[in-house]
Formats: sequence, structure tokens, C-alpha cells
Amino acid sequence: MQVLTDTPVEGAVAVRLAPGQAVKFVEKGEAEELHIGFGLPAQAGKELPLSRRKLIIFLRKIIATAKQQKLKNISLAWADIRSLAAADVSDADLGELASVAFEMANFEFNIYKKVPESGFATLDTVAVVGAPQEAILGIKRGEIVGNEVNAARMLSNTPGGDMTPTHLAEAAREAVVGTEATVEVFDAAQMKKLGLRAVLGVAKGSIEEPKFIVIEYWGAEKTEKPIVLIGKGVTFDTGGLNIKTGDGMYEMHMDMSGGAAVIHATALAAKLGVKANIVALIPAVENSPGGSSVRPGDILTSLSGKTIEILNTDAEGRVIMADAITYAKKYNPEVVLNVSTLTGAALTALGLHASAIMSNDQKLEDLLRAKGEESGDYVWPFPLWEEYEDMTRGHFGDVPNISTAGNSRYGGVIAGGMFLWQFARELNCPWAHIDMAPRMTSAPGEELAAGAAGAPVRLLISIIEHYVKR
Ligand code: BES
Ligand code: MN
Ligand code: ZN
Repeated sequence: MQVLTDTPVEGAVAVRLAPGQAVKFVEKGEAEELHIGFGLPAQAGKELPLSRRKLIIFLRKIIATAKQQKLKNISLAWADIRSLAAADVSDADLGELASVAFEMANFEFNIYKKVPESGFATLDTVAVVGAPQEAILGIKRGEIVGNEVNAARMLSNTPGGDMTPTHLAEAAREAVVGTEATVEVFDAAQMKKLGLRAVLGVAKGSIEEPKFIVIEYWGAEKTEKPIVLIGKGVTFDTGGLNIKTGDGMYEMHMDMSGGAAVIHATALAAKLGVKANIVALIPAVENSPGGSSVRPGDILTSLSGKTIEILNTDAEGRVIMADAITYAKKYNPEVVLNVSTLTGAALTALGLHASAIMSNDQKLEDLLRAKGEESGDYVWPFPLWEEYEDMTRGHFGDVPNISTAGNSRYGGVIAGGMFLWQFARELNCPWAHIDMAPRMTSAPGEELAAGAAGAPVRLLISIIEHYVKR
């Protein structure tokens, strides 16, 4: 889709934002107009200005409604959009918020479907008429951001049979074409040489070769420490020998969503020419049962030298992330951010609306909270307290991959974070773990297509840019 900031295309339907009204078409002279309202007539205008959260949803609703009406081209008045937002939302901010929302709401995962005769119900253009210069810049930037979020959703939605570690590595290369970023992919033999035995252990049961994907973008002085992003790249999670149930396995082709997010956040930074150094690390494996699978009770020697006692082969994400965290040390990072669909427990705790975060640094936690609110990729903190260290004492290895402190079902989010912390503490820098399992798929009511939600690409780019502005 294109967001135009000058003239609407011929035949575009004018969309009026009419607080308090239901959706309706009105004939106005020759042309048609689509009126989209929110709330009840009695409350007309009373909800204005919308909170930032509601604003994002309403902006998406404009597109969702136009799609329902099978429109292809619409036009909007900037003044209408402006009237929704509080005065302290700048034109640039609002322009960006709008075009990100438009692009995300227009996205459909339909590449595996036959094109219907009338075409897919997606828009070709949205024209925003009468926007001031500052807003236009925001709109242009938002389009780039929105497209990159959608690119991450595309990768996540791709079925596991097609989205293999090899394919994910190829997708990483494609993501940065035409930018300054470079991609290096280590195969199994190279991973063995590097000592990434935890990653290799998880991959053993699958016929798909694991890959360790490294993207580097040096947008600042080479002497400046990089931001390291680590994304879980489990291209399909059957659970391994501790095999999942049918219901539990559904959607597990999206278990590489953390990897997709860091790939496209890095590509986005490169496309925007952000003056930051970024390294993205994506351990990519398929977690499968088989004659050569890692078994419960097996002990893997991780890159850190610590042994990992596999007590449940379905807690595979943390195992591959551990090696990537240790690998990050060689970059002497400024900050490390982990992104993974790590635990079902995060969904139990938070539902579908926020990713769980854990951090060793209060400032970083506060920053994530604030930028989460701003970007729409909401996060909520969990404690990284020493009381929970009990969860991480192995029977026969150094660190068990599920909690050994009593009932292993208790505190599942925290157990995942505490495991990662055993490796991250050696980084000696601010570190945060983002368990994005709750945000793997879109939630009802958020006006996004079913499937991947593209979290937390918007959050990551705003964190990256924060480090530049400091
Ligand atoms: N990929 C899953 C977590 C997940 C579940 C993400 C549902 C998104 C939606 C992860 O690898 C997993 O299987 N975790 C286990 C951990 C348990 C064995 C300690 C879980 O959540 O059940
Ligand atoms: Mn699993
Ligand atoms: Zn998993």
C-alpha cells in the first residue's frame, strides 16, 4: 500500500472521521463518502482526544473498515486525524503513528491463497490531504516502519515446512539488501568449531540443518559499542521428545518470531540510516523428535562452559538463546536485548496484550516500559530476584532447562528469565529479556489480521534510536 501525502488517486473515496457515528456511506453530490465513528452518539466528541492506545486502534479501524467495504483507494483529511489526538502529540509523531497503523492494518497473509476474482480486500492507496510538512515527514517514516513490521509478520506466518533455518538465513540476507548491513551465516560444522553446542544439541533431532545468523550494521563510529539483539529462531517447535499436544503445537511455526523481529528491526535501522552500531544474533533450529534427538537427562556443554541439563526438551528456546548470549560477549556490547517466544506461562500471566520483560538494569526496564507505551509494543516487568535462583540449580549439570525449585509449573516466565540470566550476568552490561510469546499473534479487537503481530519491531527501533540520541 502507498500512503500519499499530495493528491488522492482518481475515484478515491473520501473517509470522514465522525465521532459518535456508526459506519455509513453517504452520497455527496456525485462522490461517495464513508463516515467512520467511534462510541455512541451520545458521547459524540466526548472521548476526544483519544488516549494514545485508543488512537492506534482507531487509526487501524479506518483501514479495517475500508477493507470491509472493499474499497481500494481512500482519502483522509489531516485535520480529521489531528482532531483525534491530544495537543502534546506532535505532527511528526501523529503522522508516523498514522502511517504505521495504516500499513499494519492493511497487511494480510494471503500469499498461499488463490487470488479471488475481485482481488484481495486490501487497499492500494491512502491519501492524507492537507498534512503540514512535519506530519508528511512522519508519515513517510511511518511507512518504512510499518512495512518492516509487516515483513517480520510475513516471516513469522510462513509455515514451518517452508520456513526452515536455511530459509530464515536467506530471509535475513534479503532483508538487508541495499543497506549497509552485512549478514554472515554459520552452518553446523562452523557452529561446532565455534562451540555452539547448546544450539547444536537442540537441533539434533531434526533433518533441517541449524544456522547461526549474524547481522552487523555499523552505522556509528566503529569504536562505539554495539547494541546486540538476540532473537529466538525456532522455525518449528514440536516440543522434541517431550512432544507437545495437538493444541499446543498449533502455531509453533511462529516460534521464530523473535528472530524475525530482530532481523527486521536491524534492517529497519539500516534503511533509516540510524547512527547506531547493531549486531543481531539469531540461532535458528527446528525442534523435532527423532532417533537422534536430545533426550531428557542429556547434558549439553554450552559455549559459556556451563553445562545445561535438559530436563524437558520443550524448553528449547532458552537453551539456544544461552549460546547466543555468550556469543554476544565478543562484541563488548553497550546493551543486550533478547527477544523470544519463550514461555506459554507468559500468556497465562499477561494474556495477549503485553510481552513480559526481565532486566538487570532499572533504567533499561523503565526505558522499555516508556518506549513500549509510545510505540504500541506494550511490555510488563517480572522480577529477576535472587530468591528465584533456586530454580536454576541442576541435579547433574550446572543449569537445568526447567525449574528445579519445587513445582516446575510455578513462575514459568521467571524461570525462563532466570535461566537466561545465568548466562547474561557474564555480559557485564545492561541486559533485558523480552518474552514476546503473548504478542506472537494478534489479539482480537486490535484491528490486525489473524496471525503474527510483528512485535516488538516498533519497540526495538525506538530503543535503538534512544541510544543514538543520548
Ligand atoms: N515456544 C514455546 C512457548 C510458547 C508457547 C510460545 C505458546 C508461544 C505460544 C516454548 O518453547 C515452550 O515450549 N515452552 C514451554 C516451557 C516448559 C516446558 C517449561 C511451555 O511454555 O510450556
Ligand atoms: Mn518448546
Ligand atoms: Zn519454543
